[in-house]
Amino acid sequence: MHAGSAPLTARRRGPLKGRTRVPGDKSISHRALILGALAVGETRISGLLEGEDVLNTAKAAEALGARVRHMGEGEWRVHGVGVGGFAEPAGALDFGNSGTGCRLMLGAVAGCPITAAFDGDASLRRRPMRRVLDPLERIGAHTVTSAEGRLPLTLAGAREPIPIVYETPVPSAQLKSAVLLAGLSAPGETVVVEAEATRDHTEKMLAHFGADVRVQSEGEGRRITLAGQPELAPQPITVPADPSSAAFPLVAALITRGSDVILDGVMMNPLRTGLITTLIEMGASVERLAIRNEGGEEVADLRIRAGTLRGVEVPAARAPAMIDEYPVLAVAAAFAEGATVMRGLKELRVKESDRLAATGALLRANGVAVEFEGDDLIVHGTGRAAGGGLVTTHMDHRIAMAALVMGLASAKPVKIDDGSFIATSFPGFVELMCGLGADLS
Ligand code: S3P
Repeated sequence: MHAGSAPLTARRRGPLKGRTRVPGDKSISHRALILGALAVGETRISGLLEGEDVLNTAKAAEALGARVRHMGEGEWRVHGVGVGGFAEPAGALDFGNSGTGCRLMLGAVAGCPITAAFDGDASLRRRPMRRVLDPLERIGAHTVTSAEGRLPLTLAGAREPIPIVYETPVPSAQLKSAVLLAGLSAPGETVVVEAEATRDHTEKMLAHFGADVRVQSEGEGRRITLAGQPELAPQPITVPADPSSAAFPLVAALITRGSDVILDGVMMNPLRTGLITTLIEMGASVERLAIRNEGGEEVADLRIRAGTLRGVEVPAARAPAMIDEYPVLAVAAAFAEGATVMRGLKELRVKESDRLAATGALLRANGVAVEFEGDDLIVHGTGRAAGGGLVTTHMDHRIAMAALVMGLASAKPVKIDDGSFIATSFPGFVELMCGLGADLS
């Protein structure tokens, strides 16, 4: 535990009931601030996630010369400086726990003729940055890092950015987005080719701001072509509820007997709904009500009713559409009958923690049988879990929330060493869950 860590305990109680809305989508919130900062004039954002990760991106945008104002709950205004217009920041940009904020901003700064220092917390300092720095160096940026290419690092943006054609070596929306954001400053066309489609919020928002972006399907993947040096025109942004946050009350309702919960306005972008697809295959009752379009994304109110689940095989090809949801899927799998096999989880090793190891440890600490086969995880579900474990969260918000969800349905309470990182992505998590009837303290 670190100084200021907040241990939490989840206990089994009655069913979860009620209707609520989880906070705004984290991916869209980061992008709204960054594109707002690169547009000329005022971008109005409503429903912004006010979690620590996003607030760090807002601070970085300000340090780079944009004006960012908080008007009221979720209501923000960004006065941008235009593509290539960032000013040199006075001090290091600190992204805290956020890989997304850091990697996207590395891309945005790489297209500006300034030098900036990037840093983060102990978790972010352990995560790979080389994957992003390689293409940014091809575009013309220069970087100074430790031998392993980790934070803290200094990046000198390209004075004359070069448009590149880049095939991503790993399926990563952050990597794709960093290249596209740097490519904004280059003349001509920047092309990113991804072998597997990853979340497409950057492409969609760039088009929303008037950039010329073409997206072509290529097998399982996509080719994204961006025409450089656009004038980005501010557009209003409404941030839908985050499906990755919704995942926690959703699974909690499925595994807590007698529960019936509605989650309002959850984003249903098909590159984010792999968890729902999987849970429905497991026999879950998840209904999409009032499907509508909000701010360019399909959203729905989700009605979730508890029931029995059975183990399934989750194909590796689905991983990009549910990459952040495996810890909580593993919890659902513990309460299913039979084995759930999750394939192709290599990228989980480089998240806020080694999430593959942390997820396995979470389950084992609570009496659930787990096997690892290379990058695959197999959970042997029995329809119940003993609980009683103390889970080490490793500065990882999603491990913390998944462990607490487990404790709501297991025989004995589940404790976590530190719930403080939940505030990076899901401020108000404990209060929201308690509002549905959960026992978290
Ligand atoms: C994100 C992309 C994913 C995801 C992260 C948010 C984004 O990371 O894990 O929470 O907003 O682009 P990778 O792109 O590294 O897989």
